Amino acid sequence: MTTTHLGELSVSPIGFGCMALSHVYGGTTDESARATLGAAVDAGITFLDTADVYGEPREGATGPAGTNEEMLAPFLASRREEIQLATKFGITAIRTGTDGSTKRTNGRPEYAHQACEASLGRLGVETIDLYYLHRPDPDVPIEETVGAMAELIEAGKVRHIGLSEVTADELRRAHAVHPITALQSEWSLWSRDVEDHVVPACAELGVGFVPYSPLGRGFLTGTLTKEQVADDFRSGTSRMGQAWDSNQKIVQIVAEVARRHEVTNAQVTLAWLLHRAAQLSVSAVPIPGSRKPERALENLGAVGLGLDDEDMTQLDSVRTQVEGSRNIVDNPTWISSGRE
Ligand SMILES: NC(=O)c1ccc[n+]([C@@H]2O[C@H](COP(=O)([O-])OP(=O)(O)OC[C@H]3O[C@@H](n4cnc5c(N)ncnc54)[C@H](OP(=O)(O)O)[C@@H]3O)[C@@H](O)[C@H]2O)c1
Repeated sequence: MTTTHLGELSVSPIGFGCMALSHVYGGTTDESARATLGAAVDAGITFLDTADVYGEPREGATGPAGTNEEMLAPFLASRREEIQLATKFGITAIRTGTDGSTKRTNGRPEYAHQACEASLGRLGVETIDLYYLHRPDPDVPIEETVGAMAELIEAGKVRHIGLSEVTADELRRAHAVHPITALQSEWSLWSRDVEDHVVPACAELGVGFVPYSPLGRGFLTGTLTKEQVADDFRSGTSRMGQAWDSNQKIVQIVAEVARRHEVTNAQVTLAWLLHRAAQLSVSAVPIPGSRKPERALENLGAVGLGLDDEDMTQLDSVRTQVEGSRNIVDNPTWISSGRE
């Protein structure tokens, strides 16, 4: 298996998003989740992505749930050396202030230290390979948060720093404090806004890109039904709620290309990302997630799938046909394009 570089971090060319192993899209048992991870790592998918906020919150919990990290701990106990481990802090779940305002983020330096200790404890590891700020805190200059993250590197608790959903300007400011290894934001056939400013800034600074929800939260694979998403938050999003039927035309475009190559929609969707990243001179490692081992292996099969100009032009047409926003939160500034 070849490797890809995100800054100085060497990782598998496709990673694994562990969020889907918790309740968010239907869930599974911890044992089954670890069996899927085992199959993925055996196959060469060694770059694992989690966050302190992933997982079902425990009764009465007020901060990040931490249960996805806890699920990973027994797996890491036996396979830590094979894995490049990424986790995130800074989304604190929704807290309501005394004035009735809600706040979802915390980027204070002391909180970065506290959150890192908590993640290390839950994961049962000495060091995190890639530690991301999950969302910038509008009340804390990003320089201050990243300064604290740099202290975590000095303390040997973290190897590399990443940022999620930052603008190009926020990336530049952060990168001036300490080199940023990777930027993680949504990027896929139907989420292209990061190509305007963020991806070019990564290419210029030598920062790797980690596209999250690369399969459009499952929609682009063409395997989902309305009934399957009825019980989770996806049915409440504009793209997968009211625009479900109208967005099926996008799935058809992907399916046409997949038929030509005799591969699956998921493989075309991921191969498109790898090709598009190469066109834009950025190193990119998508992190699709699945509860099923066979799907993790299928996704790895996107590596090496060649797409020609005709395929790329056809797939490019998705961009103008999408209905609904990629933002899943009722606040435009939650995603980078809302602050650009
Ligand atoms: N930084 C952030 O703010 C942020 C936000 C969202 C996600 N993320 C990260 O990105 C990772 C991936 O994102 P995501 O889970 O939202 O979306 P995704 O990877 O685009 O899609 C996941 C969904 O696709 C399905 N799937 C996976 N492979 C498939 C295949 N080959 N064929 C058919 N269906 C397939 C899975 O269902 P089954 O389980 O049924 O296979 C799952 O429901 C997350 O796990 C998380 O680590 C980060």
